[in-house]
Amino acid sequence: MAKQTVADLKDIKGKKVLVRVDFNVPIKDGVIGDDNRIVAALPTIQYIIDNGGKAILLSHLGRIKSDEDKKELTLKPVAARLGELLNKDVTFVASNEGQELEDAINAMTDGQVLVMENTRFQDIDNDFGKRESKNDPKLGEYWASLGDMFVNDAFGTAHRAHASNVGIATAMKANNKPAVAGYLLEKEIKFLGEAVDAPERPFVAILGGAKVSDKIGVIEHLLAKADKVIVGGGMTYTFYAAKGLTVGNSLVEEDKIELAKELIEKAGDKLVLPVDNVVADKFANDAKTETVEGNIPDGYMALDIGPKAIAEFENVLKDAKTVVWNGPMGVFEMDNFAKGTLAIGEFLGNLSGATTIVGGGDSTAAVKKLGVGDKLTHISTGGGASLEYLEGKTLPGIAAISDK
Ligand code: 3PG
Repeated sequence: MAKQTVADLKDIKGKKVLVRVDFNVPIKDGVIGDDNRIVAALPTIQYIIDNGGKAILLSHLGRIKSDEDKKELTLKPVAARLGELLNKDVTFVASNEGQELEDAINAMTDGQVLVMENTRFQDIDNDFGKRESKNDPKLGEYWASLGDMFVNDAFGTAHRAHASNVGIATAMKANNKPAVAGYLLEKEIKFLGEAVDAPERPFVAILGGAKVSDKIGVIEHLLAKADKVIVGGGMTYTFYAAKGLTVGNSLVEEDKIELAKELIEKAGDKLVLPVDNVVADKFANDAKTETVEGNIPDGYMALDIGPKAIAEFENVLKDAKTVVWNGPMGVFEMDNFAKGTLAIGEFLGNLSGATTIVGGGDSTAAVKKLGVGDKLTHISTGGGASLEYLEGKTLPGIAAISDK
């Protein structure tokens, strides 16, 4: 169902607009490793401030289990980076509840941006337990009370039902105040949703990653929707075992072999597995390697797809009009086993006339490393969220905002 968006908000000028963003970025010693999620939230923030709204931003960062975590997981450096990207002063408030925050919000002028401290600081230090992550309704009501309208732009967190997304939206709606989607959320729903529900065909899905158990829902859902489902990465070898091939020391989930058999039967020729693999005598970049077809020999483990598999996958992809890719084809972190993943990324980057959508950390890292990110139609900011969306699940963060 279509959702109301930030463009449906009336009279933003002078209003306190609460914006849930996903600024859960990699950070080490205060240095941000990848600011993509901050950049992706800019259109919504810019729209609000250009229209004279007061943008009050909420986000989580990491998972907070102790006071020690708070030092590394403050949003202060993120607020500073946002200020650089907006080319504007951004106020950071080192709390997310109480007088200091309320005073800072009351002192805001039109077009100002404020970032409050990591919402997950609320997961410790209180009687409720994880107030944010368990969606304490009182916390959602409190945050909602700080604003006149709510914009959820945190697609990456949409699979969580937390106080700062579902809680705020619920409280806003109960008070007849707007709870709408931001531009990023709208874009993610459009690309991921249309790709799966109304794809231009042929529609090819490429699924990789280590474990079948993480991807069962996506494989099943996409087998019903796509024309071909290419499977690569560690989970391939559970399918190999299901086909009666030998797997050597490759990663296999014994308890998923039966399921893999069922999927193979159900899928028929829709499911495309790699015909050859790069195998190694140990799990290390400097391992002794060979390329083998079919059976994986004793004493070896498969760590990447082989050249014939790459050629076959490219042959399947060349006529595709819609492609969704999630998950690496091998142990992408090690250079010697990154070829399959990089080859797929490069091929997609140069595939003309197709809608190409990438989600998940490693596949996104691959297209960025290759510098082909700009040539793709859409790179999702969601990891878990994009997977659950591709499984056809209802994401609570999206469900909670108002329909058109
Ligand atoms: C993510 O990075 O996938 C989102 O920000 C959600 O984070 P979480 O898995 O800690 O809830």
